[in-house]
Amino acid sequence: MNKHLLSIDDVGADEIQEIFTTAAEMHDVQSRQVKKLPALRGRTVINLFFEDSTRTRSSFEIAGKWLSADVINLSAKGSSASKGESLRDTVLTVTAMGIDGLVVRHGASGAAEQISRWVDVPVINAGDGTHEHPTQALLDAYTLTRKLGTLEGKHVAIVGDLTHSRVFRSNLKCLTKLGATVTAVAPPTLMPAGVGDWSKAAGFSVSYDLDEVLSGSRRADAVMMLRVQRERMSGGFFPTAREYTVGYGLTRDRLARLEPGTPILHPGPMNRGLEISADAADALDSAVLDQVSAGVAVRMSVLYHLLAGEETS
Ligand code: NCD
Repeated sequence: MNKHLLSIDDVGADEIQEIFTTAAEMHDVQSRQVKKLPALRGRTVINLFFEDSTRTRSSFEIAGKWLSADVINLSAKGSSASKGESLRDTVLTVTAMGIDGLVVRHGASGAAEQISRWVDVPVINAGDGTHEHPTQALLDAYTLTRKLGTLEGKHVAIVGDLTHSRVFRSNLKCLTKLGATVTAVAPPTLMPAGVGDWSKAAGFSVSYDLDEVLSGSRRADAVMMLRVQRERMSGGFFPTAREYTVGYGLTRDRLARLEPGTPILHPGPMNRGLEISADAADALDSAVLDQVSAGVAVRMSVLYHLLAGEETS
């Protein structure tokens, strides 16, 4: 395995399967009364979060703690970054304390990779701008594998604000690596520029018609709804919220037309009533909370694979 996990490009299909095998073992720990494993005893991991996060940060924190690592959370708001310290100085300062791994979330695409060039400990990208979010894709694929048995030959629709979505970019790579086919569904204004050439090169389909993808002859075996990321939008990407929902939301009507047993994924945070109806979010086939639970197991596995083998010096 690569030293860092910056992108899904850092892991091959075999390594992803290895991560899943370990994650399945880690998953069992979650249902125990005593959840600690000693694998990372004596190691220190810093969660360096320059962007808001609920589940990713706490998931990494729990994952590290259940492996017995010491986990320290640093967020930009309470750190010297808000006093004007450069990213490089912040990173060099925390690594000089003798840490063993760095989990980074940053608003700039490429930030995690840049940081990995400054430090000699493993760096895990927990989301960099609109670029990648590899552990989210791994936990999504892990969740789907458990629901569908295998991803080989399965058809996954990824629907929503694809332009701004790092989850889309990482999932596209991860799902296709595991043998699934992907259809990207979005209104034209939220479909990434140059998607025509990109889809040909990367081997995925593009659709502007959600109903067709959910019920056509090659209907999706799973549907992943992505958040409308208003905080990354500089102008109006769609006329009204209502219009977005009618065209691209997983509404109650669309839910009713889904084949029973079609997993519904959403990485969270959800805009209920916009991209996903409350009925769909809470449906029997909703895998949203399975994703959260899988997130801890998959991150335990990633931390284990990247840090447990590292020599402490
Ligand atoms: C995603 C993120 O931050 O990239 N959320 C997450 O990590 N669970 C998706 C999003 O913000 O919409």
